[in-house]
Amino acid sequence: MQMRHLLPLLALAAAFSSPAADSPREHLLLDANWKFHLGDEWPGALRLDKAGSSGGPAAERFGDTTWRSVNLPHDWVVELPFDRNSDTSHGYKPVGPGFTKNSIGWYRRTFELSKEDAGKRIWLTFDGAFRDATVWVNGWIVKHHEGGYYPFREDITDIVHSGGKNVISVRVDATKFEGWFYEGAGLYRHVWLDKTAPLAIAPDGIYVSPRFENNLPQNGGKVEIQTSLLNWQTNQENIVVKNEILDPAGKSVSSSKTKVKLTAESHDLTSSAAISFHSGFWPVANWWSPENPKLYKLVTTIEVGGKVTDRKETEFGIRTVAFDTEKGYLLNGQPYELKGTCNHQDMAGVGSALPDALQYFRIAKLKEFGCNAYRCSHNPPTPELLDACDRLGMIVMDESRLLGSDSENLSKWEDLIRRDRNHPSVGLWSVANEEFSVQSSPESGNVTRTMQSLLKRLDPTRPATYAAPAGDTFDGINGAIEVRGWNYHIGGDMDSYHKKHPSQPNVGTEQASTVSTRGIYANDRQRGYVSAYDVNAPSWAHTAERWWSYFAERPWLSGGFVWTGFDYRGEPTPYAWPCINSHFGVLDTCGFPKDNFYYYQSWWTTNTVLHLLPHWNWAGQEGQTIRVDALSNCEEVELFLNGESLGKQTMKRNSKLTWQVKYAPGTLSAKGYNGGKLVAEQKVETTGDATAIQLIPNRTAINADGEDVAVFTVAGVDAQGRTVPLAQNQIHFALEGAGKIIGVGNGDPSCHEPDTFIPQMPVRPIPVSGWHWKVTNFSNKRGAVVPEFAPDFDDSDWNLIKPKTDGDTGDMPLKPNETAIYRAHVQLTEEDLKNPGVQIRFSAIDDHGWVYVNNRKVGESHSWEDRPVFDIKSALHAGDNIIAVGVKNDEGEGGMNPDVTVEITGKPVNSDWSRSLFNGLAQVIVQASREAGDFKLTATADGLQSASTTVAAKPAPLRPSVP
Ligand code: GAL
Repeated sequence: MQMRHLLPLLALAAAFSSPAADSPREHLLLDANWKFHLGDEWPGALRLDKAGSSGGPAAERFGDTTWRSVNLPHDWVVELPFDRNSDTSHGYKPVGPGFTKNSIGWYRRTFELSKEDAGKRIWLTFDGAFRDATVWVNGWIVKHHEGGYYPFREDITDIVHSGGKNVISVRVDATKFEGWFYEGAGLYRHVWLDKTAPLAIAPDGIYVSPRFENNLPQNGGKVEIQTSLLNWQTNQENIVVKNEILDPAGKSVSSSKTKVKLTAESHDLTSSAAISFHSGFWPVANWWSPENPKLYKLVTTIEVGGKVTDRKETEFGIRTVAFDTEKGYLLNGQPYELKGTCNHQDMAGVGSALPDALQYFRIAKLKEFGCNAYRCSHNPPTPELLDACDRLGMIVMDESRLLGSDSENLSKWEDLIRRDRNHPSVGLWSVANEEFSVQSSPESGNVTRTMQSLLKRLDPTRPATYAAPAGDTFDGINGAIEVRGWNYHIGGDMDSYHKKHPSQPNVGTEQASTVSTRGIYANDRQRGYVSAYDVNAPSWAHTAERWWSYFAERPWLSGGFVWTGFDYRGEPTPYAWPCINSHFGVLDTCGFPKDNFYYYQSWWTTNTVLHLLPHWNWAGQEGQTIRVDALSNCEEVELFLNGESLGKQTMKRNSKLTWQVKYAPGTLSAKGYNGGKLVAEQKVETTGDATAIQLIPNRTAINADGEDVAVFTVAGVDAQGRTVPLAQNQIHFALEGAGKIIGVGNGDPSCHEPDTFIPQMPVRPIPVSGWHWKVTNFSNKRGAVVPEFAPDFDDSDWNLIKPKTDGDTGDMPLKPNETAIYRAHVQLTEEDLKNPGVQIRFSAIDDHGWVYVNNRKVGESHSWEDRPVFDIKSALHAGDNIIAVGVKNDEGEGGMNPDVTVEITGKPVNSDWSRSLFNGLAQVIVQASREAGDFKLTATADGLQSASTTVAAKPAPLRPSVP
């Protein structure tokens, strides 16, 4: 391909109204209706000798009717049982090294393209797959992508069938780990199909970057816009690139028009435009911040001869970020303390496969305790997480998976920056986390500099940090990185480092690692629980109070990121089995708050906070001393037991108050005062036993778009409706109406109950016996008439394959280059054919096979290692059916193994969902279907009054998607 020059002829700022959105671009979600199979029975599938020669599920024709239907995002690891012999840090799931059987999965999906799609460019994009994915389209290998967290994409135009059916096959191989935490497996992020005109904006081809004089939004400056263009046409074009900026209210505020000469077959050429503006142009009320997440929109239109060939909308924000060596992080020129949390990407119920609504759910939960910053540890996020952060207001530290300046790692780093740099939420990049083996070497400094210089070229507006597990050391990465990151190491090291390197800004990339279990007030190694008083942290870590009070006194540290916002699967520190998930979260895996939530809320928000711990159900401990903590930002707090004062105490900033109280059942209460005035009251009561279930959805109406979710809190309550902190009842769930349950959880770090109850596919095998065969020539050419394949052919004088005996693979009698035909009958009833799927499964065809059912070709196979399976339902009728297989042997012995079965797949049978309460609470996640209407969740349990709650699924626009 020739690369020629792009000639910007004219760039002007002029007012014009945006043309109708009649662009040929289609951005289609490809999430619904995939087929999934766990296991890899097709070692011959990945063939590299000839194009299009892959077999098994990689081939265009393949029977996948016994495979399960799944919608993406999908994580198959969350569906596996726990296994104490598997990896502790990955959460005791039998996947990864040593668990080959569960570590490879196949996905298949068909899609139609119309005749009108001929001539368009067709792209396939995966937001991420865990991991090592091989992708075929119509039998062609189109991509091999290692790495579980980076996006990948391919232009598949050349090999698609316009006006016909297309098949995507994906083999996902999770036999290797990348991290030391739960990673899930499968197509756990969205997949997209894009169609564009041959002259179009390149993927991730828009960069919009407001630049301000002195890096302050109230000053003048310009919005720089780069548009990368692709021209697949064989002729040169004069095009017009129009850029229009809409304010948060949707009003057009500025625009530009650039004429460009785009040479024939030119790729990745960039049109640059700059829209200048004067001081005060961007009203303060529209500046983006976590407290005011206002978004502007850039509308880019490409026109040729007045006709729109492409149009794209890009959200962006007006805000500036910087680091000051003394004032710390600056947002819009003002010191802005990062009150951050580090997070992995998994959640209760769904593992790493979160519908977008759960990204919003989680970001909103973090904001409840004043968290304003999110570190994507230790990998690039899914783009929808960044959308949620843009829209709800959360500053993101966007992290690369590994340190490396090899071309592979740099190209992934570049893909990440190009994909994410328009998001206003991204406020800081991270080149890596805790690279113990290399971090002090001079080479690691070189690598860091190379990664940073690439970043500076692609995004000069935001710096990078490195999450360093090191103290006062300046060698290797620390000496090269723009912003010094601190993982732990609170104390003298930080102060002396800052003194020695006064020109390097700092940030607390990872702090705390406080461990606690929701609703537990004494450590219990046996059961794997840690007390929720803020007292436990591993040797390298600190309590919430210790780290935050240290950081809060040192503005130059810029604030920091708690390890972690949510509990996650794996890393059950300080324990191991039976513990299967971490205890580091401020929230548990469901998002239920632990007590530390209120510590952070006290000092990270301006709300008046008063919270008491522990619960007050200590039957049998009457008269014994119990520690009571008040987490509050009130100046004074007075504690009462059953109305009697236990004393008033004065709160020190960033701390908490503690009393020792002799237990008596009843009411523990507190009053909070500011300036002597009562500003808050709180109480904890001794409850009765659980008598009923309560179901509370996070939203009473959701969108009937097949994607949205409602998250139900399930509580065990006493006769007065109070949540019983000790309730552990097993609850059963049933859903009626327009939705489905996709996951359950309870936040118990030692619970081994399933998070998902997947439907069972009933399969009835019918062995095909009585094979006749004969050595004979035949033609496998399209349209050839082979009488031996026809139903009425008389094969009575052919050889009959002798019945198989144990350990005998049957007749494999063909000599080198010999051909033969095999024939057998199979009887099926009308009832059989009413089932959703019928397929035929072979044990081996050595070497080539062409399979016919009632003289209709259903598939072919070209490797003796494949176990071909073909969908045959449409070729069958009730009564007698003839299966004929033409076989050609290459070398050695060959033939067809007569161990052949027809498999009838019935309708999937739903399983019953259940989960026990953990300390009073559990969670159910329900996803809407595309049908509007109500859905009703019912929860029942032995001895408890049941509960039913209805949520409305409201008609909603569907995201453009592939049917
Ligand atoms: C850090 C590491 C995290 C997590 C944490 C637990 O050193 O970066 O991924 O393992 O320790 O405290």
